Amino acid sequence: MSADIRFAWRGAFTNPEVNALHAEAFDTAVFDDWDWEAQVQRHSLGWVTARDGTELAGFVNVISDGSVHAWIQDIIVAADHRHRAIGTTLVRCATDGARDAGCRFLHVDFDDDLRDFYFGACGFTPTNAGLIEL
Ligand SMILES: CC(C)(COP(=O)(O)OP(=O)(O)OC[C@H]1O[C@@H](n2cnc3c(N)ncnc32)[C@H](O)[C@@H]1OP(=O)(O)O)[C@@H](O)C(=O)NCCC(=O)NCCS
Repeated sequence: MSADIRFAWRGAFTNPEVNALHAEAFDTAVFDDWDWEAQVQRHSLGWVTARDGTELAGFVNVISDGSVHAWIQDIIVAADHRHRAIGTTLVRCATDGARDAGCRFLHVDFDDDLRDFYFGACGFTPTNAGLIEL
């Protein structure tokens, strides 16, 4: 379980921390110029950080239409911290934060291999969604 992990809605983080976590999670190069701090401060409803001591162990971005809909994007947990309920707790904190902000629906989309995580562990219900690659 994640009892020793500290979760924070709109918790402090640095760009290098999230860029490193993101690169590991999605198996990409580290994007040094991705300014997460400015991005989420300017455009997001909120975000959730998970810290194991001083280490950033997880992160999720929560975006919104400014009304009743919110979406989670880029949920990431450090590889050596997975399967300790950090991902599900990040989603729970995102749900609480969006609800507290007045939202009524939290959306997500994902590939088939994550059905057990989102439907099974996090409690999302299936819905139709669409995508246009730009
Ligand atoms: C998906 C992710 C956030 C899950 O984080 P986590 O902290 O390991 O998740 P939890 O410990 O809360 O998982 C709870 C349950 O969900 C399911 N689950 C978790 N990760 C899963 C995965 N990658 N695939 C399928 N099911 C998964 C399991 O049933 C798990 O229970 P278990 O630990 O007893 O096996 C993490 O694997 C990750 O960062 N992946 C890379 C980035 C990514 O793909 N993000 C999603 C973008 S849509």
